[in-house]
Amino acid sequence: LLSLVAQVLLFNLMYNINIFAHVYCNVLHWPNRFVLISTKMNWTEAQSYCREHHTDLALVRNMEENQMVQSLDPIEVWIGLFRDPWKWSDGSDSSFRNWNPPEPRGLNGSSETCVAADFSADGRWETLDCNVKSAFICYKC
Ligand SMILES: *[C@@H]1O[C@H](CO)[C@@H](O)[C@H](O)[C@H]1NC(C)=O
Ligand SMILES: *[C@@H]1O[C@H](CO)[C@@H](O)[C@H](O)[C@H]1NC(C)=O
Repeated sequence: LLSLVAQVLLFNLMYNINIFAHVYCNVLHWPNRFVLISTKMNWTEAQSYCREHHTDLALVRNMEENQMVQSLDPIEVWIGLFRDPWKWSDGSDSSFRNWNPPEPRGLNGSSETCVAADFSADGRWETLDCNVKSAFICYKC
């Protein structure tokens, strides 16, 4: 029983530290949450770069964040969304999507399984072959 209680307490502690760290980091980095990297890389290289130097490829959870990305004045950039069914690079389950119809086209075994935001189309998203080299957006926290 003691060990169970200890486990529950430990879990609660870790959980609270996690939430605290997350909130702290968001406040700390707001509004500089996103970083534009102009060096062109394919999606996988971009992901590694972001994980090494920041947190991950951009997780864009709502229109406000899409506008924060847009304010960095990019043209076409990789974001952290990939594959069908679509997943975020950092494992988040955000369901926000901002497709530019008739996107998304990366379905049914198409090689277009990574996602870029196209700022010549108001920052709406398109699928691209992951091999394409493009500038990209990382995020912090
Ligand atoms: C993908 O495949 C499914 C089942 O084969 C089909 O119903 C659907 O229309 C296809 N989607 C596209 C975009 O081709
Ligand atoms: C990205 O580029 C690296 C290094 O050139 C290559 O090994 C990798 O297969 C490429 N990945 C994708 C998804 O295109």
